[in-house]
Amino acid sequence: MEAQRRRSSPWTAISAAAGVPLLLLLSATSIWSQTAAVAAGETTELQKHVAFFDSDHNGIISFSETYEGFRALGFGIISSTLSATFINGDLGLKTRPETATESLFSIYIENIHKGIHGSATGVYDSEGRFVQEKFDEIFTKHAKTVPDSLAPGEVDEMIRSNKQPEDYKGWLGASMEWSATFNLGVDKDGFLRKDTVRAVYNGSFFSNLASEKKVIYTRQKRPHARERQEGIEGECQQSTRLT
Ligand SMILES: *[C@@H]1O[C@H](CO)[C@@H](O)[C@H](O)[C@H]1NC(C)=O
Repeated sequence: MEAQRRRSSPWTAISAAAGVPLLLLLSATSIWSQTAAVAAGETTELQKHVAFFDSDHNGIISFSETYEGFRALGFGIISSTLSATFINGDLGLKTRPETATESLFSIYIENIHKGIHGSATGVYDSEGRFVQEKFDEIFTKHAKTVPDSLAPGEVDEMIRSNKQPEDYKGWLGASMEWSATFNLGVDKDGFLRKDTVRAVYNGSFFSNLASEKKVIYTRQKRPHARERQEGIEGECQQSTRLT
């Protein structure tokens, strides 16, 4: 399965080489306006997207919460550290309220929309709300081989089509986010499906994947308990090796 997920393409190579699998959580400057403020107490889609990382539910994502979140999604120590450094370093500053007391590396979820970058899909609007038409457009425009599924080259093409002139930072952010999304979400046929991407946008994908990983990890730690369960494929060799 891992080999399947590592299937390479020009842009998956970018993040692999950089060792920085940043998620949609990442940022950069650009277009966001203060018009049409979100009603107080309303949770935006972008806030839901990042909520997985706020493990103590205090509205703030610390460096170590980002790190632990990436680890729980299956990333290694090095890429999780690099991701937390880039993401919290960048979004910590951008989302910081004037009255903030936490570390500069703390991300304030209430202001997460301030981290939205350029050359993005526009699926999150300037306030972080979900825009259905923009989401559908990704697939109507770019899913050419299999309906509602993106091949690696099609993701690449989409990223290029969203790139604004000279917005290298936004483009890099978008490339890394989609690379991470693809690597985590690719199906057995090598495609990124629309419902998977939808679940990444609302964040449910992360918690589901983390629970899946936890089950596998627990089975590896307790191979005898696992062996009693018939019909589970794949982990047998690994747990034997670990004992
Ligand atoms: C997120 O989207 C997925 C896929 O459409 C859906 O199954 C799930 O119920 C949604 N979850 C939330 C919390 O909105």
